Amino acid sequence: MARSQVEAVKVDVITIFPGYFSPLGVSLLGKAAERGLLEFAVHDLRNWAHDVHRSVDDTPFGGGPGMVMSPAPWGEALDVVLGSGSPDTRLILPTPAGVRFRQETAATYSRMARLVFACGRYEGIDGRFADDARNRVPVDEVSVGDYVLSGGEPAALVMIDAICRLLPGVLGNAASAPDDSFGGGAGPMAGLLEGPVFTRPRVWRGREVPAVLLSGDHAAIARWRRDQALRRTAALRPDLLAALPADTLDEHDRRVLDEAGFPVSGKDMAH
Ligand code: 6GU
Repeated sequence: MARSQVEAVKVDVITIFPGYFSPLGVSLLGKAAERGLLEFAVHDLRNWAHDVHRSVDDTPFGGGPGMVMSPAPWGEALDVVLGSGSPDTRLILPTPAGVRFRQETAATYSRMARLVFACGRYEGIDGRFADDARNRVPVDEVSVGDYVLSGGEPAALVMIDAICRLLPGVLGNAASAPDDSFGGGAGPMAGLLEGPVFTRPRVWRGREVPAVLLSGDHAAIARWRRDQALRRTAALRPDLLAALPADTLDEHDRRVLDEAGFPVSGKDMAH
C-alpha cells in the first residue's frame, strides 16, 4: 500500500546528535515541512540509555578497535518510534557496508508513508538490532557512496534531501526533476549528465552566452543541450555513457561523441 497523495510523508531520525539535523528546518525541505507536505521528528537515542552516563556503546566482542553501539537503547527507541503499528514504513540503516543509494532508491522511498533513519556511530550498531527490527519492519542497510563518513548522520541528511525533493509539491518547478542528471526521466537527457546553464547578463567578464540559446530556435536549443550533455558525460562519467542502451544514440550523437574522443560503435557501446 503506497502513501495516499494527500497524506504527508513522515520522516523519523534516531541519532545521538539531534542537532545535526537542524538543516531540515531550512531551505526547500524546511518550507515543505512548514507547508505540511512532510513531517520530521528527530529522536535522541540517549533518551533510551539507562545508566547515569547515558552511554549507548561498549567495547566489541571479539576485540578490535573502536566501540559498538549497544542493541538495547536502539531496540527500545525503535519500539517507541514505531508504536503499535506503522504500515508502509521502511527502516533505513545508513552504513558504508550497505547497498548503494541511487536516484531510484530515492524515488522508491519517496512513495512510502514513513521512513525511519537509525544513524549509527562508532564502529556500527550491534548486529542483533537489525535482525530484531526485521521482525517488525522492512530494513535496508544503505550507503551513500564508496567512502567512509564518521557516522550515519550526514548520509541520512543526503538521503532525506534526495527523497523529499521528489515529493509532490516540494519542488517549485515539478518539470525540473525528470531532466536532472540522474533524474530518471524518459526524456532526451535520460542517462546523461546535465550540461551548463546560463542566465543574464548576456556578456559577463567578456564571456558571451552561447548564441544558440538566444536564437529562439527550440529544436536547435534542444540539440545543443544534448550535445553538451553528451560531451560532459563522455568527459566526466564515461561509465554512464557505456551503460546507455545503444538505440538511445542517433547518428548525430555518435558524431558528437566521436569528436569528443569517445568513439562508439554502431551496434553496442562497448569500446
Ligand atoms: Cl550511510 N555511513 C557512513 N558512516 N559512512 C558512509 C555511508 C554511510 N555511506 C558512505 N559512507
